[in-house]
Amino acid sequence: MQTWHHLSPDWLNWADQLAPAAQKINRHLIDALDLPALTRAADGRDLAVLDLASGVGEPAFGIAQMLADAGDNGDGDPALHGQVIASDIVPGMCAGLAERAGAEGIGNLSVVAADMEKLPFGTGTMDAVSCRFGVMFCHDPDAALGEANRVLRFGGRAAFMLWAPLVDNPLFSAMDGVLGNMLGTGFADAGLDLFGFADPTSATAHMARAGFGDVTLTTHSPAGRIPERAAFWKPQMEMLFGPQLRAATDAERGAIDAAMFEALRPYVTDGHFQVPICFHVLAGVKG
Ligand SMILES: C[S@@+](CC[C@H](N)C(=O)[O-])C[C@H]1O[C@@H](n2cnc3c(N)ncnc32)[C@H](O)[C@@H]1O
Repeated sequence: MQTWHHLSPDWLNWADQLAPAAQKINRHLIDALDLPALTRAADGRDLAVLDLASGVGEPAFGIAQMLADAGDNGDGDPALHGQVIASDIVPGMCAGLAERAGAEGIGNLSVVAADMEKLPFGTGTMDAVSCRFGVMFCHDPDAALGEANRVLRFGGRAAFMLWAPLVDNPLFSAMDGVLGNMLGTGFADAGLDLFGFADPTSATAHMARAGFGDVTLTTHSPAGRIPERAAFWKPQMEMLFGPQLRAATDAERGAIDAAMFEALRPYVTDGHFQVPICFHVLAGVKG
């Protein structure tokens, strides 16, 4: 919690710039919620979607935009419509999220500061629960999954985006190694356990233990194509290690960039970095 408290300015700083890339991967999470099926089951009622550990808005914004009443979509399915509650344990994240939602004029989204291990919502009140890169940071992830299950209606769906192992995420391996060498702080020292749900067997077991049925896990490994001169790791690095980088000297920051270029050089082809990021989408239904 303390870690994230200090990082909220960095998340707000990069959010708009990262939004297009975020939306590309969010579609895997949103597809797993199957909002069209939930809409058919809701039979005209507004869908209620809860996004947990929303940070400054992903994927809450994209879901809210999909559920802003779009009228007849022309394919015979009822139009998606509903309300999104975005939530996070850190007040600074919630404030940044509310500011961004206001600036974008998103009317069907509200923000509630909430610990996902102890949610302030009634049992059976949500049609869907989403969470992108959040549950692994809980002190008690089983409590969080249990709470997600509790607040869902029967037939409601939950989907969690989770980092796959470090070895499949070369950007994070490079960051961990370089910052460990240069500043003496990698993920472990910074209190960031990104990979607690990386193992598919254990992740699906957590989900089943929380009471979910029809549990599925899919793995995705997209790679962007970025000109080889671009220090493309800066946003992610600042969003995870902002305070440590601000305390570093200009010379140290320069050396970090040089070492990152070197560590990621094997991923350069044709003048471009193509560094995969690998994540899972874990989904289930409240039965
Ligand atoms: C990696 S960020 C993800 C933010 C956002 N979902 C995204 O993908 O851009 C993790 C978020 O989890 C939040 N968080 C950590 N523990 C939490 C908890 N117990 N309850 C709710 N949010 C929590 C942090 O404040 C942080 O905003």
